[in-house]
Amino acid sequence: MLLGGLGGLYGVTAGPKVLAEPIMPPDLSKCHDANAPALDNHCCPPYSGSEKILEYDFPATPLRVRRPAHLVKDDQEYMDKYKEAVRRMKNLPADHPWNYKQQANIHCQYCNDAYYQQNTDDVPVQVHFSWIFLPWHRYYLHFYERILGKLIDDDTFTIPFWNWDTKDGMTFPAIFQDAASPLYDPKRDQRHVKDGKILDLKYAYTENTASDSEIIRENLCFIQKTFKHSLSLAELFMGDPVRAGEKEIQEANGQLEVIHNAAHMWVGEPDRYKENMGDFSTAARDSVFFCHHSNVDRMWDIYRNLRGNRVEFEDNDWLDSTFLFHDENEQLVKVKASQMLSRIYTHPCKCNRNVIRDCLNPTKLRYTFEQVPLPWLGKINCQKTAETKSKSTAELSLKRVGEFATTPKALDASNPLRVIVARPKKNRKKKEKQEKVEVLQIKDIKVTTNETARFDVYVAVPYGDLAGPDYGEFAGSFVRLAHRKKGSDGTQEQGPKKKGKLKLGITPLLEDIDAEDADKLVVTLVLRTGSVTVGGVSIKLLQTDTPAVI
Ligand code: C2O
Repeated sequence: MLLGGLGGLYGVTAGPKVLAEPIMPPDLSKCHDANAPALDNHCCPPYSGSEKILEYDFPATPLRVRRPAHLVKDDQEYMDKYKEAVRRMKNLPADHPWNYKQQANIHCQYCNDAYYQQNTDDVPVQVHFSWIFLPWHRYYLHFYERILGKLIDDDTFTIPFWNWDTKDGMTFPAIFQDAASPLYDPKRDQRHVKDGKILDLKYAYTENTASDSEIIRENLCFIQKTFKHSLSLAELFMGDPVRAGEKEIQEANGQLEVIHNAAHMWVGEPDRYKENMGDFSTAARDSVFFCHHSNVDRMWDIYRNLRGNRVEFEDNDWLDSTFLFHDENEQLVKVKASQMLSRIYTHPCKCNRNVIRDCLNPTKLRYTFEQVPLPWLGKINCQKTAETKSKSTAELSLKRVGEFATTPKALDASNPLRVIVARPKKNRKKKEKQEKVEVLQIKDIKVTTNETARFDVYVAVPYGDLAGPDYGEFAGSFVRLAHRKKGSDGTQEQGPKKKGKLKLGITPLLEDIDAEDADKLVVTLVLRTGSVTVGGVSIKLLQTDTPAVI
């Protein structure tokens, strides 16, 4: 197995002790005027939020198995149940917390600043762009799934997953296409959701003109790289920490969130509002949202497995992050990130200390995923064939490219930004690589939040101080989905500029391109959509949390 060899656990990193607090649930009685782009879409819930909050009673069902959407298609009995459950959800009174629209509004509330964090009057609760992205969405799906099961009185019900990491699952799932079905949503890009069109995981509002088999190969390679590049350090895959009250942090989503954004963009309408899937405020109105996120959740499960089921962040500010949902008994409940962790983690020093307090019960949410092949985990030819390889340096048009210096730079779609970046150390030994991963960091990324932004990053070895014409190997992307807010007059859509950060693990990539002995690298940033300014490009060595056995 290409990514295999992750045997025993070793080398616990003693991360810095930070004086902060986990993200806590907001006061639901204070919902601000969060808005979706269309003016009639106020997503605050109609109920007061003054209900009593209980601890969640985790389900005691048999293990329920989520299945791939393209395979449940012909299971008439299952499809009837699924559609009936969604139909009933749509027919509930508009102000019922289980109502279809209210379920969708939850997503809008937690990304469009409906609630401020406890004890603050201006720090919104935001469930994207950080390490709470995966746990929050896992719970969100879990409750949605349990409510659907309850509505049809079926304790074994599961939602399907959009199996976009395999060839047969890479088209828009047919089960959502029937206009007469409650699973249908008219607000989609009709060019993509029909006719077996292949999803493009690097989509940025221009059509990929490559052949289907080439797009499939590119998708599988992107998924493979995402895992391989971030296997030794969870934040590269899952996102950076966010702690209570923090205002000025540079948000960094992990590469899994980046991949997931492409499906949002590709499914949503191509017009200015990108409804429904292409804008966070409206995304969950399309039933395919939950099916897509079910696969995102599955990717997390696979990542965890590949890392020996190690808990990703031994940090109470992650483990104790707490969320509120209405459960399948119509009760408002609070749940902690740590409570969903499905397996016992034994401390590698063998002192049998269970690091996580609340996760002693395996598979506490009582669901799993049908085992299907993982074509991206095998051997695929992902390396770009550089046209330049056979040429002598005299034949190449080499260009002098400078260092980044300090002035922020606006990316220009027709003229990619290319910079020379020094590496902290070259020719590192295997042991050094296991202890520290080389990470390419792009900081002070500013985007306009009312539009989606994407740039792709490539890495190449320079010829001395000169860069060749080839951008080199694809290292990863920055994607920020539109996140519109309404101004005071109800029409204004100018989003504030917010800073972000991109971190890409490049240790395996440099091995792949034989760059071990390069002192410097040429980094190329290609703007694909939106407007983006970046404030710096550097390479750092970060302590791994799992040995990099790649
Ligand atoms: Cu909350 Cu796919 O996003």
